[in-house]
Order: sequence, then structure tokens, then C-alpha cells
Amino acid sequence: FGHDVVCIDKDQSKIDRLHDGVMPIYEPGLDSLVENNVRAGRLSFTTDLAEGIAGAGAIFIAVGTPSRRGDGHADLSFVHAVAREIGQSLSNDAVVVTKSTVPVGTGDEVERILAESGTPHRVAVVSNPEFLREGAAIKDFKIPDRVVVGTDSERARELMRELYRPLFLNETPILFTSRRTSELIKYAANAFLAVKITFINEMADLCEAVGANVQEVSRGIGLDGRIGRKFLNAGPGYGGSCFPKDTLALTKTANEPNSPVRIVDTVVEVNAARKKAMAEKVIKAMGGDVEGKTIGVLGLAFKQNTDDMRDAPSLDIVPALMEAGATVRAYDPEAMHEASKLMSGIEYADSAYEAIKGADAMVIITEWDQFRALDLDRVKRHRAAFGFFRDRRPELYGRLV
Ligand code: UDX
Repeated sequence: FGHDVVCIDKDQSKIDRLHDGVMPIYEPGLDSLVENNVRAGRLSFTTDLAEGIAGAGAIFIAVGTPSRRGDGHADLSFVHAVAREIGQSLSNDAVVVTKSTVPVGTGDEVERILAESGTPHRVAVVSNPEFLREGAAIKDFKIPDRVVVGTDSERARELMRELYRPLFLNETPILFTSRRTSELIKYAANAFLAVKITFINEMADLCEAVGANVQEVSRGIGLDGRIGRKFLNAGPGYGGSCFPKDTLALTKTANEPNSPVRIVDTVVEVNAARKKAMAEKVIKAMGGDVEGKTIGVLGLAFKQNTDDMRDAPSLDIVPALMEAGATVRAYDPEAMHEASKLMSGIEYADSAYEAIKGADAMVIITEWDQFRALDLDRVKRHRAAFGFFRDRRPELYGRLV
């Protein structure tokens, strides 16, 4: 967008690697975007917060808000810590923008912490949730469906309008709301999408039980403009860095004022059970016993185009298959390194075909495009006893077959 941006992180090695042009995550297009902007002198990296925010008009808080161990509430310790540090380091008036996904009322907390720091500078606190999908993050940022900005401060509204001005060109709606409303919009959006996925997942089970086709059901309902076609792909349960933790956090937030969101409570439960049930499904399809069998697993990341393994369905499915006595030979284009930190005992392959060579079954967990384009004749040549790839319809990709 042409703004000058300084990225600040406490992790020295992350900053060092960024200086060397090495991205801390896999995200398509990120390396060249970073490289171009560094070269243009607009983007820099530092571990020094005071130096990094000096002169900044807007300071974005983008730290993690993981699920708190034990109770599922969002862990706000990083948000609070960085707010404290910003308060102590400010050298000019600024707008502090929360990008991290935070429960309703967190902006009030950040405001209180900043005030307590005794900073003489004027600070407005804004909520500006992000709706980026991993793997499509750059496109989602540049061509968003909407931008949500929550603040009561006119000065902050002005600055945010100016920041997002490049989006006026494609007439992106910018929705100004109160801070609390904006905080809730983020959770409501993620929870709604999780409901949609869980709904179609249950329809998939029903389809299997009654002999219907879930892809056609999805298309048949999705063409209704009130329902919409997106996020109606059945799969092994949603995972990732957002849906699992945000749905859980929303149920916690809702329980406190005794305003339960029962549909989301159920979605959390159904999704967790679904991931667990997937291994059983595979075992059943293989005749009820996988002892001594080899299963080729394609895809480990929670979705395609990422190396992110957070809450990936593979973390439930693969260990359960191994516990049942199977040997798992897996291939993922990007996530094998991350997966090896979280699961042991997997044999890793160099390609999809390598993973399924001589295997008794092939399980596609992640919908990478390259699995969609598998040469099925070659697959057939590679297998010894090919368990349950029952159907050649390409739309079966991304589901367990
Ligand atoms: C999500 C939200 O989409 C995004 O707006 C928010 O900012 C962060 O959380 P992300 O987690 O990157 O993004 O991935 P997303 O594409 O939403 O998929 C989440 C999970 O749902 C994945 O496990 C995916 O495989 C699953 N999914 C998605 C389905 O099972 N079916 C679908 O139709 C869509």
C-alpha cells in the first residue's frame, strides 16, 4: 500500500532470518512481497520496540492469543504485555490497533493498561480484526470482502481510513463500529463458518448413510444465494490456528454473561469427535484391522498451501492409525518438518507416489492441488492391495476416501 512498516518481534532469530530474507512461515508469495518492500526501503525488522514504534502513527498489535491451557479461554498475556511495553516506550501520539483475535472487552483492557503506563501522549485504541485465510493471506489482504474498524475516536477513524485508502479503488466496504462490536464480529464470523463446515460434515455422514452425494447436496443448497457456496466442502473436521481456538473462546465468552451460544458449543464437540472418528472410518474401510498394514497418507497440514499443523486433523488420524498397528508413510509438500516435531513414528516420503507405493490404502487428509491432479493410472500401478479408493470422481479430493 506504500506505507512504511517496521515489524517488531522479541525473537531475535526470527528477526535475523527475516533480515536474511528467510520467512518464518510458508505462505505463497510472501517472500517476494517482503523482498520487494525491503528493497524499496518501506519494510524493516527489529527486536527493539521503542525504536520500532518511534514516530509511528499506527501501532498494530498482532501477537498470538492461544487457548489458555485448562480452560479454553483466549490467553491474553501477550496482548497485555505488549500494551504495557508500548505504553512505556511511546514517544509520540499514536493509534494502537488490535489485530490479534481478542475477546470482547480486550480493547478496554488495552486502553486501561496504556493509561496506567503514565504515557503523556494521546493514544486511541482501535479493534481491526483480520479475516485472512492462511495460504491465501496476501490476496485476502489486498482484496478483502470488508474491513472492520471498531473505535469511538474520530481521530482514529481518520487514520484507519487513510491506512486502507488503497482499497477504496476496488470499493471495499469499510465498516465502522464500536470497539466491542468489532471484537465480536471476528468471533461471530469464524464461528459461523465453523457452523457451516460442521453442518456439511454431518450432511456428508448422512449422505453416506442414505446413499446420497454430499458434493451435489452442497452445490444444491449453495446455489441458494441465502446460503452461498463457500465453506460447504465436507472434510475430516476443521483445524488451524483460528477456528478451533476461536469457537472455544466464543463459548467461554458467552457463558460468562450467561448468554450461551449452544450451536457453537455443539459445533466444537461435533468437530472434535469427527477428527477422532476419521481413523475408525479408515480402519473399517480396510476390513476392521490394520495391524501390519501400510497406509499412505497424503497431506498433513491443516489445509493446503500452508505448513501449519495447528489442530490439524492429521494429528488425530495418524497416531490413531499407528496405534491400531498400521505403518504410516506420509507425504506433505510443506508440512513434514512441522509434523515431525509433533508426531513420531511416521515414515516420510519424497512424493505422493512414493508414499503410496505398495501401500494397502491411501488416505488423503489435506486438499493440496497436486493430490487433486494425481495420475490415477500411476497410482494403480504403485499399489499392492489398493484398499478403498472406490471412486474416481475428482471431487472426492480433500475427503477421506
Ligand atoms: C480462518 C478464516 O477463514 C479466516 O477468515 C480467519 O482470519 C482465520 O481463520 P484459516 O484458518 O486460514 O482461516 O483457514 P480456512 O480456509 O478458513 O479453513 C479452516 C479449516 O476449515 C481448515 O481445516 C479447512 O480445511 C476447513 N474447511 C474449510 C473445510 O473443512 N471445509 C470448507 O468448506 C472450508
